Parts: sequence; structure tokens; C-alpha cells
Amino acid sequence: MSLISLRDVQFGYGGQPILHDVSLALEQGESLGILGESGSGKSTILRLMLGLARPDQGVVEADGSVLDIRSRPRMQAHRRFVQPVFQDPYTSLDPRMKVRRILTEPHVALDLPGDAGAEAARVLDAVGLPADSLDRYPRAFSGGQRQRIAIARALIARPRVLLADEPVSALDLATKVRVIELLTELARDITLVLVSHDIAIVAALCPRMIVLQQGRIVEGGATRHILRAPQHPYTQRLLASLQHMPEETP
Ligand SMILES: Nc1ncnc2c1ncn2[C@@H]1O[C@H](COP(=O)(O)OP(=O)(O)O)[C@@H](O)[C@H]1O
Ligand SMILES: [Mg+2]
Repeated sequence: MSLISLRDVQFGYGGQPILHDVSLALEQGESLGILGESGSGKSTILRLMLGLARPDQGVVEADGSVLDIRSRPRMQAHRRFVQPVFQDPYTSLDPRMKVRRILTEPHVALDLPGDAGAEAARVLDAVGLPADSLDRYPRAFSGGQRQRIAIARALIARPRVLLADEPVSALDLATKVRVIELLTELARDITLVLVSHDIAIVAALCPRMIVLQQGRIVEGGATRHILRAPQHPYTQRLLASLQHMPEETP
């Protein structure tokens, strides 16, 4: 069975349909890219995977069974299973908390085993930040460093699945490249879902991808094949809008 999946999912906000017949599945250790323009429903898919919303029809399955978001013990377990990283590291980190607290709070909230301080040091090291970062506030860090802190926070739970929603969109180019390198490294051990409207970033990180248009999956498969021969007109337009193709794809 897949690590996490959506099966025949329909979803809408207040009766307004947003996702139609969405099915996707991730195996252990696989990285999946979700590509689509703004408003196509990418973040909504992640919300369903996180258990922040429930499908109107169809199911989300995680860790071997259907996710029931009304069950508190199940959601407690689910928050250890899957963790998010959001686009904007400026708003996703509480400015009043030192990094130490940012990184120890989830440990307590999720009732994780082990020493919270030692775990904070572990994840800080995993994202390539120095140990003295623990005594600083988010404002002392650059955008890329803040995104590393947000990634570190997601790693505290040792999740099986990391959901990254436009994780480098708010960063400048050089910083983008370094955060992508970090995610590439992490993706060796963790199952990654990467949402982006930027096909170059999906190509850099995800061997497999789906293309979402207005809440429907219009194309899916090996990223290298889709880049070489996009089948759907929407994907063809997205590719044509690029000034140049990445020379080497995964
Ligand atoms: N909380 C909400 N209430 C109502 N509509 C929403 C809400 N969140 C998103 N939407 C709508 O759902 C659609 C998909 O949004 P979203 O999943 O955020 O797309 P994407 O991440 O691809 O930009 C958009 O039309 C958006 O306006
Ligand atoms: Mg979004």
C-alpha cells in the first residue's frame, strides 16, 4: 500500500467545487511534484493530505488506512506522520519566539520521545544552521535561513512525508538554489510532495509529477518524459512559456 494517497477526491469550499476526481499515490521515498498555475488547487491538495479539511467525496489514505480527521488520536498520529513547509518563512515563524522555542514546541505538542533540546540541535544541524541559532529570533536571519528554520521545525517530528508548498517562491535566486539543494538532500530519506508553479523547480526535485488545471489532474508521469513530450495543451503552454529548458532533468 502507498504511504499516502488521495482516491477519487472531490472537494469544494462552501459548495464551490475546487478539486475534481483527484487520485494520486506516493510510495515510500518517492518525490512527487504538483505543478499548476495559481488557483488550480495545489495548496488544497496539501490541506487534504494534512487533514486540515475533509474530502466531500473520496478518501485520503495515510500510513495504511483512511484518514478520519474527526478522530483526535488519529490526527495526533497524523501530525507526526506528515509535516508541512509553507511558502513564506516570514509569516510562518512566530517573531516573538527564539529558534529554541520554535524547535522545541512541536516536540512537546506532539508528545515526541527523546529530549526536546537535543532534537532541536539535531534538526538545526540537518538544515545546515549553526548551534548558536537557537538563541536568536527569526528576525536575525535571512529569508533562506528562515526557510531552513521552518524546514527544521517540520523535521522535529521525524515525519515520513514532507509537504512543501512553494517552498522557495519567496526567495531570491541564489538562496532558492541552496534551499533546493537542502530539499534534494532531505528527499533521499523522506517522501516529499513539492507544490510549485515553477516547472524548473519540479524538474530539479521530483522524478515524478502531476499537472493540475482547475482542480483536475490533466497529466502525470515521469518528469523527464513530460518535459520532453508534454501531452496536454496546458502543460505544453507552461513549457513554451519558459525561456529555456533545464539541460539535465532527473
Ligand atoms: N478557504 C477558502 N475558501 C474559499 N475558497 C478558497 C479557499 N482557499 C482556496 N480557495 C479557492 O480554491 C481554489 C484553489 O486554491 P488553492 O488550492 O489555494 O490553489 P493554488 O495553491 O494552486 O494556488 C482557488 O480558486 C481559491 O480561490
Ligand atoms: Mg497555493
